[in-house]
Amino acid sequence: MDFTDRTVIVTGSQRGIGRAIAEEFAALNANVVVCDLDQGAVEKTAAEIGPRAIGLSANVVSIEDIENLFARAVEKFGRVDILVNNAGIARDTLMVRMDEKDWDQVLDTNLKGAFLVTKTAARLMMKQRYGRIINISSVVGLTGNVGQANYSASKAGLIGLTKTAAKELASRGVTVNAVAPGFIDTDMTRALSEATREGLLSGIPLKRPGAPKEVASAVLFLASDQAAYITGQVIAIDGGLSM
Ligand code: NAI
Repeated sequence: MDFTDRTVIVTGSQRGIGRAIAEEFAALNANVVVCDLDQGAVEKTAAEIGPRAIGLSANVVSIEDIENLFARAVEKFGRVDILVNNAGIARDTLMVRMDEKDWDQVLDTNLKGAFLVTKTAARLMMKQRYGRIINISSVVGLTGNVGQANYSASKAGLIGLTKTAAKELASRGVTVNAVAPGFIDTDMTRALSEATREGLLSGIPLKRPGAPKEVASAVLFLASDQAAYITGQVIAIDGGLSM
């Protein structure tokens, strides 16, 4: 795979899975926009990734931020070919204890944020008659999970958004797919209790957490020319967890 002259925006890529995706794209010659909440952090990450990466801060819940993000990316690189909707948060607790704030924050960031960024990208990609959009859903969007009513609903919603966007944009040469990672070793999952981690691991046929790079591999494939005939699909990257 080679992404020379392709420009990719990865939301939430200051660290974790998003950062691994940004690094892998840069390694295959893409222009990379590292996007996250904090300007200092995105600049630092972009500098560490290499000369073809720039850092632009944006909150995916703010349409002004997103329009500004795309305008600056186009100003710098001329176009945006690939979007990875990776920014996400979790606020876990049992549904009966979950307050509205936890529900709204997670749905806003994970689902509304992806909608706003996708909509902005779609306008540009339709004009270009080329685009690749990859949404980072989750295995719990397929299966549900105790303590994650808000998170699993947002990730299931993202799958619906993926399929609708795939249908609406297909005639313009834009593909839209999702990946559904299982238990991946990042700051998000390191925050889980030892008991929860053990419980999760015991249900994984491959008996280990995944690495951020293993999610990146599937994302890069979906963004490549080799995946031109794949749209509206969800690929689980979960060591067999959702089987
Ligand atoms: P992380 O917490 O390490 O990284 C998420 C990044 O998103 C952070 O840098 C954060 O600052 C950024 N972010 C949060 N809200 C934002 C906003 N409003 N605007 C812009 N950026 C924002 O998490 P991780 O583990 O790297 O997860 C990345 C994605 O993968 C998330 O969407 C997560 O739900 C998903 N995922 C993670 C799994 C895991 O096991 N770690 C499993 C399945 C899905």
